[in-house]
Amino acid sequence: MELQETLMTYKEILLKYLFIARNFVNESCKELEPYHLIAITFVSTLLCVWVYNFIFQKESLRSRCKKQVFRIIRRLPFVGAKIQKELDKALHDMANMVLNVKDGVRFVTALPHTGLKQEQVMEKLEEYSALSEVSWEKGKVSGAVYSGDPKLTQLLVKVYGEFAWSNPLHPDIFPGVRKMEAEVVRMACTLFHGSPQSCGTVTSGGTESILMACKAYRDLAFERGIKYPEIIAPVTAHAAFDKAAHYFGMKLVHIALDKKTMKVDVKAMRRAISKNTAMLVCSAPQFPHGVIDPIEEVAKLAVKYNIPFHVDACLGGFLIVFMEKAGFPLPPFDFRVKGVTSISADTHKYGYAPKGSSVILYSSKDYRQYQYFVTADWPGGLYASPSMAGSRPGGIVAACWATMMHMGEDGYVEATKKIVTAARLIIKELQKVEEIFILGNPEVSVIALGSKVFDIYRLSNSLTAKGWNLNTLQFPSSIHICLTLLHTKPGVAELFVKDVKESVTVIMKDPGAKTTGVGAIYGMAQTIPDRSMVTEISRAFLDCLYLTEMPSSANQINGSTGHH
Ligand SMILES: *Cc1c(COP(=O)(O)O)cnc(C)c1O
Ligand SMILES: *[C@@H]1O[C@H](CO)[C@@H](O)[C@H](O)[C@H]1NC(C)=O
Repeated sequence: MELQETLMTYKEILLKYLFIARNFVNESCKELEPYHLIAITFVSTLLCVWVYNFIFQKESLRSRCKKQVFRIIRRLPFVGAKIQKELDKALHDMANMVLNVKDGVRFVTALPHTGLKQEQVMEKLEEYSALSEVSWEKGKVSGAVYSGDPKLTQLLVKVYGEFAWSNPLHPDIFPGVRKMEAEVVRMACTLFHGSPQSCGTVTSGGTESILMACKAYRDLAFERGIKYPEIIAPVTAHAAFDKAAHYFGMKLVHIALDKKTMKVDVKAMRRAISKNTAMLVCSAPQFPHGVIDPIEEVAKLAVKYNIPFHVDACLGGFLIVFMEKAGFPLPPFDFRVKGVTSISADTHKYGYAPKGSSVILYSSKDYRQYQYFVTADWPGGLYASPSMAGSRPGGIVAACWATMMHMGEDGYVEATKKIVTAARLIIKELQKVEEIFILGNPEVSVIALGSKVFDIYRLSNSLTAKGWNLNTLQFPSSIHICLTLLHTKPGVAELFVKDVKESVTVIMKDPGAKTTGVGAIYGMAQTIPDRSMVTEISRAFLDCLYLTEMPSSANQINGSTGHH
């Protein structure tokens, strides 16, 4: 009874105010003509729409404001000119670096009038081989070449020769390559404990495998009625996920790490899940620190919210599947974990196949079909292709198949044993060096180093001077070495430990000294608040890759600089 009375009073009050408001509006518009009212309504509606569209864009308002501020700074007469000068200098240095060839070397810019004889081509080829100054054969380079075994090279050259002209696009003409590709996928499915429903395709590399998974889940999301599909991935997930988001119009939601373990923060990941989530991502292991994300925990989220879950095992896929047999058991990471719907694994990394091959695997064919591209109406015929490319190099598929068959389970287990043993030795020894620390708990082949007492990029410079070529990481500043079969040669791991220890001793004579060279550039790049400038320099670097002569002024390789 009482409640009803209260409600009635509220209703009366409400009506009273509505009445007052109406009178007020009518009173104020008394002087206005109807066309005024229409015009005002029309303009204010447009204004509302404009403001809404201005505030809610793909890029946040804050980020756009920041960019605008930097754009204005770049236009200031004095500051802008100084920044431009610095940029030009950086570009000039880059051009010099890529063109740093011995005097007298000329670039080919047009076809030779008459074709060269085979011997002449081979002669020329030697010039090009001699350009390299980094000797990866000695195991001083992080990652890059995963096997390099000359005996394997001999086999691959023969296999490639046999299938050089083949193309998986034409399975009727090249049934052998079709069989090989199907077998590579099936062998990989078996390694990752896929059920009989599991399936996949061969791709040109890790990036394509990741692109394909994202494309498949985007199309699945569309079908589920999601208009703006989002990828939820750790900040350490490979840049190929950024690329996928960029190519396929998805949004990448980055999840922070647990600062201590460098694994993705699962709670933060759960909080990021929304009605727009198209897929979850974990790495096994991630590239920067070689740490395996908490796959079982994230898989529980995937099951609970019914979201596809991709495990990126591009880097270490062909190590982790052999870890148990090599004597280093890991928690489950593959299709045995309920919720994992796809896995990418690079045959051209620890699969030891030549560059240009990888596999993308799905737990079920229900997912793979979203990866396919089919057009039924092309005058050129019914066109269906499984992945990004149309024609594909059958020779590379054959070489990949041959490598897997030649390595065999025993070969891979042995290789894994050697690499992980070398990694554990390096970890054990470097843990004794007080001035540096290892990021997270790397369980496989990548070891990332940081320091609290000196700029770690100085260590990278110092190791470069000793002939090493490591990877430079950022946010936080660190460097890593990715061990391959080349680092398992006698004495290589020991030499690395010795060189790190010696370098640290030298650096600690003056821990506060300024960083120089490439290390300084990396340090600086992290602190530049205007990220667009970093992007711009990187674009210009890509331009440099295609130079065949020194540009007369650095402006010719301005990337996007010219726009300002
Ligand atoms: C290498 C790598 C990839 C893909 O790299 P590609 O260069 O395209 O083969 C993806 N994820 C991780 C973790 C990697 O290390
Ligand atoms: C580079 O700079 C030159 C000269 O300043 C300009 O003409 C050109 O348009 C710029 N190129 C690009 C791609 O911005």
